[in-house]
Amino acid sequence: MRCLVTGGAGFIGSHAVQRLLRDGHEVLAIDDLSRGHAEAIDLLRQDAGGRLSFERVSIQDHDGLVNAAGAFAPQAVMHFAALAYVGESVQQPGRYYAVNVAGMLNLMHACADVEKFVFSSSCATYGQPPAELIPVPETCPQAPMSPYGRTKLIGEWMLRDCARAMELGGRPVGVAMLRYFNVAGADRSGLLGEDHEPETHLIPLAIDAALGRRDSLTIFGTDYPTTDGTCVRDYVHVEDLVDAHVAALDALKPGRVLAYNVGSGRGYSVREVIDTVGQVVGSVVPTVEGARREGDPPSLFADPSKIRRELGWKARAGDLREIVADAASWRTSHPGGYAQC
Ligand code: UFG
Repeated sequence: MRCLVTGGAGFIGSHAVQRLLRDGHEVLAIDDLSRGHAEAIDLLRQDAGGRLSFERVSIQDHDGLVNAAGAFAPQAVMHFAALAYVGESVQQPGRYYAVNVAGMLNLMHACADVEKFVFSSSCATYGQPPAELIPVPETCPQAPMSPYGRTKLIGEWMLRDCARAMELGGRPVGVAMLRYFNVAGADRSGLLGEDHEPETHLIPLAIDAALGRRDSLTIFGTDYPTTDGTCVRDYVHVEDLVDAHVAALDALKPGRVLAYNVGSGRGYSVREVIDTVGQVVGSVVPTVEGARREGDPPSLFADPSKIRRELGWKARAGDLREIVADAASWRTSHPGGYAQC
């Protein structure tokens, strides 16, 4: 299958490209390299047998997208290109709507003929569900707390509306919306990893603090109504997340519209993550207690039973230790990130 992967040089997108190539697909990765890494594409090309092409195109460049998609004629799209920092979205909402919403519209126009469309949605579309809806099922009302979460929810609406219109027009498309929980870890073969600039995610920051590359890690809020006062999240291994995309791609048929949570179903507090990082790296993570971060829900973890029942997907790395170990292994061997590749 010819698959267009937007954000193919980014953390999750590059892992998806790797998996699609392993499965024998032909891939066009596009990325504007604002947050992705050309080095990741170079590494992936080495074993791609000519099945990976790359174009530096922004999701905001309508004509560039039309040209790239027109020449490649993708049968499927995996759409990862987006801005994805909750805190940044609160400060710069316009940027988030421009990239995540207007960019998505460009892509949908450029790829109007695809058979299958898999969209990176987010658990941030749920906001803070009521206590009785944690673990969160897909039927939970979606009430995002941040501009980032709202852009992802709008993306879901756009896809549903377009899928319906295409069905009415006699050209049904298959659409999957995957609501990611907290993605972490790294490719188990050691080729790819997580390298964000700026890095804001808990696991890589805690690893860097344990390795002495940062003075300390600030814990954002210690007065939440959780067991130890810190936020609870559901961490999912990036390779498991990619498995879920492949399962969704396989399951999509014309006219099918699917929405799934992709999480392990277990919640870990910030302090539990910090302890696990300390055990894996072998040194204590130096911490400072700080204020709450705006837009952070206190507790969010998935009920992943729907995707298990319908697609047979389950997180293989059910244990946080395994996710942290893979992240730490890549980070330890790449102190300068991709820049040193
Ligand atoms: N945290 C800290 N200190 C830090 C960084 C994070 O205490 O230096 C805490 C956060 O407050 C949060 C938890 O660690 O409670 C996890 O934070 P991350 O930044 O790693 O991840 P988020 O939960 O904010 O974000 C992730 C994804 C988003 C998604 C969101 C949904 O990155 O794309 O989950 O809540 F939208």
